[in-house]
Amino acid sequence: MHKMSQTNTGAAFSGESQAHVKYLAFAAQAETEGFPEVARLFRAVSFAEQVHAIRHLKVLGGLEKTETNLGAAIDGETYEIQEMYPAFIAVSELQEEKQQPGHITGPWLQRKCTLACMSKHARQ
Ligand SMILES: [Fe+2]
Repeated sequence: MHKMSQTNTGAAFSGESQAHVKYLAFAAQAETEGFPEVARLFRAVSFAEQVHAIRHLKVLGGLEKTETNLGAAIDGETYEIQEMYPAFIAVSELQEEKQQPGHITGPWLQRKCTLACMSKHARQ
């Protein structure tokens, strides 16, 4: 695959993945507000977006045998814990963000570490 097509497919994978999760969140919100039919609709569309995302992932060569997938998951979670979120937190502190991003602070990061550790053990 040409580099530009690979980049475009990666962007499509990201967009479809985000739509999948966003519609799940919209469904939960609709449920909370007492609109179960709307929630069901969002879940159905979310599933379609998941199918689209998985197709793109396969084209990108991102779906392998389980042992390889476990390794990729561990690598990804480890990167998030050790590099990505610490850097995000440092930038946030450097810029003196008034509203501390609660979704990437210490306790949340610790819980995320637990998930990565569990994945690592599952692989062994
Ligand atoms: Fe889609």
